[in-house]
Amino acid sequence: MHDILNYSLADFFFNDNKNVLKPPSDFTEWMSDPRVQHGYSFFEQQLLAAPKVSTEILSNLDNKKRSIINLTSYNYLGLSTHPEVIQAAKEGLDQYGLGASGAPLLSGTFDLHVKFARMLADFKQKEDCILYSSGFGGNVGAIQGLMRKGDVLILDEKCHKSLIDGGTLAQTKMLFFDHNDVNSLALMLEKSKDKRVMVVVEGVYSMDGDLVDLPNIVKVCQEYDAPIYIDEAHSTLMFGENGRGVAEHFDLEEEVGISFGTLSKSFGGVGGFICSNADTIRYLKGYSSPWNFSCAPSPPVVAGLIKALEVATRDSSLRDRLWSNTAYLKKHLLDMKLDLGKTESQVIPIIIGPSGEKLMGFAEQMQKRGLFLQPVDFPAVPAHARRFRMSVSSQLTQEEMDRTLNIIEDVVVKGLRS
Ligand SMILES: Cc1ncc(COP(=O)(O)O)c(C=O)c1O
Repeated sequence: MHDILNYSLADFFFNDNKNVLKPPSDFTEWMSDPRVQHGYSFFEQQLLAAPKVSTEILSNLDNKKRSIINLTSYNYLGLSTHPEVIQAAKEGLDQYGLGASGAPLLSGTFDLHVKFARMLADFKQKEDCILYSSGFGGNVGAIQGLMRKGDVLILDEKCHKSLIDGGTLAQTKMLFFDHNDVNSLALMLEKSKDKRVMVVVEGVYSMDGDLVDLPNIVKVCQEYDAPIYIDEAHSTLMFGENGRGVAEHFDLEEEVGISFGTLSKSFGGVGGFICSNADTIRYLKGYSSPWNFSCAPSPPVVAGLIKALEVATRDSSLRDRLWSNTAYLKKHLLDMKLDLGKTESQVIPIIIGPSGEKLMGFAEQMQKRGLFLQPVDFPAVPAHARRFRMSVSSQLTQEEMDRTLNIIEDVVVKGLRS
């Protein structure tokens, strides 16, 4: 192996070792290099308290507890730790116990699941809703449940792995159009004219924070009579006048046939859901394996989620604060001449460039100064655009935002100049 730092996980996918339990030998060599281990020390760090903005981690850097400002959690609206949500989950725990103890079809459906699915369908203004135990499982399960071998799934090239894995499981042909590029999409729709197709986009793209160009994508899809599947993982409860997501933001909800949301981000819990027309949901229940063959969501979590939906939709105060905090941070980061890509949301990338050493060096210094910002390295993002990904929270105080900006200025801005 020449320069170990030129390698990444992208290089070890194929394994020539006959024994599948043995990773490639150079993978083990790569992983045990102290420089690679240092890079990995920024991942799987242990949170010792709730995923609030001010929390505590056990730092992998020196195995010490550290109080930090946490801008890595997806607890965008603070609902994971909202007192009313916690109280509802506690009551759910007392009444129903910890787990559902069964798949939804057989013994895992509780009154709480039925109530919550109805609430979500009404909220999203769709006829019906199916709940999954994880967001990832929801995407995989919905695509696998609807698409068949010989069908064509046309995805934006920046779509999440769960959407791609759904296509793999369904054995569909997958085509990837250039990010948000309607001409590229039209080309693929033209090529697939005589096939059953579905077009997959995200409301907010999770590594860049930009929005789907839904108005133009809808136009092209209508020309080809192609249904649209939108993943609103990073936009539900935040975008649109009523928080229904990016489809509401563009006033194109009816044009989107199927809408996915996760319950692990703005909702503050765990799970996923699909809202669509009643026939589609009925059909999905017949064929979607992660629904049919997996335990239903934990009842106390669902009890908490019901309250989370109530709290987030009874007024706009949480999302108003999210957007004013986002605007404040963005303005000051741009004043520092940092590259924030094309973000239009609460997901703010701070693009560092090609140097993995700089990325990890900044991560270490920021953590030592009390700011927990997750580095995102190749292959999760292109090698020339390694970055930090800031997840803004409605719970950030003015003092926490100013402290964050000071640390970023001292570490990143000065570090990029040197
Ligand atoms: C766009 C997108 N879709 C789906 C998922 C999966 O959701 P979950 O983490 O709730 O399983 C994620 C998670 O990161 C995501 O970013």
